[in-house]
Amino acid sequence: MKILKQAVEDEVAAALAGAGVEGELANLLGPATVEEHGDLAVPCHSLAPILKRSPVDIAELITSELAPALSGIAEVSAVSGFVNIKAEPAWLATSLSELLLDERLGVSTENPRVAAVDYSSPNVAKEMHVGHLRSTVIGDAIVRMLIHKGHTVYRENHVGDWGTPFGMLIEHLLDLGEDNAADELGMGDLDGFYKQARAKFNTDEMFVERARNRVVMLQGGDDETLRLWRVLVDESMRYFNEVYSMLGVLLTNDDIMGESNYHHLLPEVVSRLDNLGILEDSDGAKVVYPGGWVNREGEPLPLIIQKADGGYNYATTDLACIIDRVERLGCNDLLYVVGTPQSQHFKMVFEVAKQAGLMDKSHIANHIKFGSVLDSDGKILKSREGEAIKLVDLLNESVVRAEQTIAQRNPSIEGEQRIEIAKAIGIGAVKYADLSTERTKDYIFDWDRMLSFEGNTSPYLQYAYARICSIFRRSKVHTPLRDVSPIIIEHAEEALLARRLVNFSSMVDEALYTYSPHRLCTYLHSVASAFASFYENCPVLSAEDDEIRMSRLALCDLTARTLSTGLSLLGIDCPEQM
Ligand code: ARG
Repeated sequence: MKILKQAVEDEVAAALAGAGVEGELANLLGPATVEEHGDLAVPCHSLAPILKRSPVDIAELITSELAPALSGIAEVSAVSGFVNIKAEPAWLATSLSELLLDERLGVSTENPRVAAVDYSSPNVAKEMHVGHLRSTVIGDAIVRMLIHKGHTVYRENHVGDWGTPFGMLIEHLLDLGEDNAADELGMGDLDGFYKQARAKFNTDEMFVERARNRVVMLQGGDDETLRLWRVLVDESMRYFNEVYSMLGVLLTNDDIMGESNYHHLLPEVVSRLDNLGILEDSDGAKVVYPGGWVNREGEPLPLIIQKADGGYNYATTDLACIIDRVERLGCNDLLYVVGTPQSQHFKMVFEVAKQAGLMDKSHIANHIKFGSVLDSDGKILKSREGEAIKLVDLLNESVVRAEQTIAQRNPSIEGEQRIEIAKAIGIGAVKYADLSTERTKDYIFDWDRMLSFEGNTSPYLQYAYARICSIFRRSKVHTPLRDVSPIIIEHAEEALLARRLVNFSSMVDEALYTYSPHRLCTYLHSVASAFASFYENCPVLSAEDDEIRMSRLALCDLTARTLSTGLSLLGIDCPEQM
């Protein structure tokens, strides 16, 4: 609990100094491991050899110093060598009053940094797969948190829109007829299109010849070829945009920075590396050996910059991206939300970029990797036909399922309103299932679990929010409540909810600086469940008197604001009724 820590740290330091502990050694104050014991704790075990006393004695000594100093702020107790510090109701009440007045619920803004967040990044004329869904959802949450903390953010949708496959794709487009092909792509049948092209490429020599010539024309900047290429890109983007708009992510056409955008910088990447003398020849290809990587035979592994035929690689484009993001956009932070299989690629690219001076110590490059989405058999999620799942179908199915649930749970919600709520629940469920699992782990895609109104799910959080909205509708009290006094923290359930509410800002910071949205999810779930037991045990509208009623309404309002702000940072909507 960061704000409690700030409130007590000077006194803790003084008490430790009194016992003879100062400097580095005195950095012992941290979160308590068992919530019931306290919010913060000072473990005294490491002090025993220095003070030549038992941890139990030391904890007791410090407690007797500290307890009077923290009266009105926190209760202090010594338990088995730990000094436990637990916020007092009076301090919680004051903190809640401050939060009520604060639109930002305690979340501070930081010294602004400039960040490029590379996310989503599907490939033109190929289905966006669930990996791109994860990148889109996680990347978007990180962007929202960065903006909320006051940073400047460039969203970079690094779509794969360039390279040799485009020769074959353009020829296939011509075979189908432009209009037919455009229809097929615009409808989202991207995989079908790609596979047909690939099948011809594998069997038809004439087609291979045409595809090769087409690549040459594309790279040579032939007008008609470029126009056909644009058809492919535009139609695919039309489909991707449909997915983005269903998902409600921030990405727009302005954020597209596909591979083709860095074309002009590729010769420069080569010349910069060459001027530094780090470019080497390997069978005609130009490569850099960043050191530290070996292939299966144990030989040093190069990063290939330019192939023997003059073509450039994925890595070359990523080096060009770094030049662009650092030098043109002035970014300090380069974040890449991309699946774990590309780990080595990014490590090598970052290393070469450092060696080439494209980044210096002031720049942070971070590969924000994530695990796979699995089916119930633990295999990579695919459609029944074994193909990549069409994301629009997946999202539509979630909305349909959510609509069925609403129809059952609350038949009075109908028509347009039901559809709108179903969208918020269905889309929220898919996003939350993704965000709430630890980022680097795989997770199993499970409709029943993600759409459940119980457990760590978005419907559970959204329902808690809607429930509070309904309390306020019945109370005739207007929100947001700003000035409520006194705030009364009497019952254990009130205290638990209060202790969780004051933690919001530190949990947002923690989720952002570890790029771990799941921490925010776990926290929001803990708020919603503390609210559920509060609401069960502490009557709000029928409270014994007006003061208690207002105080409890203030707790309700803060809970609602915490849930909706937290969910909005994750990119999830909160309907007022469901
Ligand atoms: N288009 C790539 C893929 O689908 C992801 C690109 C990630 N971004 C990057 N700067 N390399 O695998």
